[in-house]
Amino acid sequence: MQVIAAAGRIADSFPVRNLNQDTITQAVLAGLAQTPEPRLHQLMTSLVQHLHAFARDTRLTEEEWKFGIDFLTAVGHQCSPTRQEFILLSDVLGLSMLTVAMNQDKPAGCTESTVFGPFHVEGAPRFELGADVANGAAGEPCLVRGRVRSLDGQPLAGAQLEVWQADAQGKYDVQYEDLDHAQARGILLADAQGCFEFRTIVAEPYPIPTDGPVGELLRATHRHPWRPAHLHFRVAAAGHETLVTHVFREGDPYLDSDAVFGVRQSLVADWVRHPDGSFTLDYEFVLNRSPA
Ligand code: BEZ
Ligand code: FE
Repeated sequence: MQVIAAAGRIADSFPVRNLNQDTITQAVLAGLAQTPEPRLHQLMTSLVQHLHAFARDTRLTEEEWKFGIDFLTAVGHQCSPTRQEFILLSDVLGLSMLTVAMNQDKPAGCTESTVFGPFHVEGAPRFELGADVANGAAGEPCLVRGRVRSLDGQPLAGAQLEVWQADAQGKYDVQYEDLDHAQARGILLADAQGCFEFRTIVAEPYPIPTDGPVGELLRATHRHPWRPAHLHFRVAAAGHETLVTHVFREGDPYLDSDAVFGVRQSLVADWVRHPDGSFTLDYEFVLNRSPA
C-alpha cells in the first residue's frame, strides 16, 4: 500500500486500516521506516516499542492513560523560565542520573559527574578569587578552596568554575519571585596554579519543589523530596571535558536516599567547622582530557 509521507513523497507503508492490538505496533514502526536520520529512526523505534510494551505489560486502561496525559500536561504547565518541571520529572525517575552515568563514564581518578538539576541559569555574575558569591544569601559563612587539575596532575590554569547553591532556607535565588539579582551563584577563574578560593554559605539539605505535579507523584508513591546538602559546580578548561557535578556534605542524613539519585561517594567531602563557627571546604577537581 502507498501513503503520502509528511514530506509529500509517496512511500511504501504497512496498511493502517483495521489494526488491532496485535498489529498496531508493527504498523507504527513501519510508519517510521522512512525517517532519514538514522539516530532519530533508532530512538523513535525504540521509544514506540517500549511504550507499547508498557501499555501491554500493565494492561493500561483508557482512564489511566487519560490520567497520564493530564499529568504530563500539568508538568508542561508548571514549566517557566525559572521552573523546569520536566527536568524534575526526569530527575525523580532516575532518568537524568542514568543518562549521566552512561555518558560520563570517566577514567578512574577523574572527578565524577552528577545531575545538572533545574536551577542552573546562564549568565551568572563573575567574581574575583576570594570574593563572596553568596551576595547576601542567608546562611552560615564558609570558605571554599581547591584546585583544578588534569588526570596527569597538570594544574589547569585559568579553569572556569561556575558554582550555584541553595541558601539556608533551602531555596535557590531563582525561586524567590521578588529577588532581582543573583545570590549564591557565580563564575570564577582559577589562578595560574589551577587554584581557586571563594566565600559562600554552608550547603544545607533541601526538598526539591513539591508544589507541582512531580510533588504529587512523590506523595502518591510515598517518597520524600529531600536532597542531601551540596554545592553545584560546572568546571571547564581548554582541552578537557567540561565537568558538571556536585560536592556533597559528609554526614548529611539524605546521602543514601537522595530524591534524584545523584550521590557518588567520591563527591562527598567534609565541611570543617572551626572554633569561631566558620566553615571551610577543600576540594580538588580532576578533569578528563577531551578526545583528540
Ligand atoms: C538540584 O540539586 O538543584 C536539583 C536537582 C534535581 C532536582 C531538583 C533540584
Ligand atoms: Fe541543588
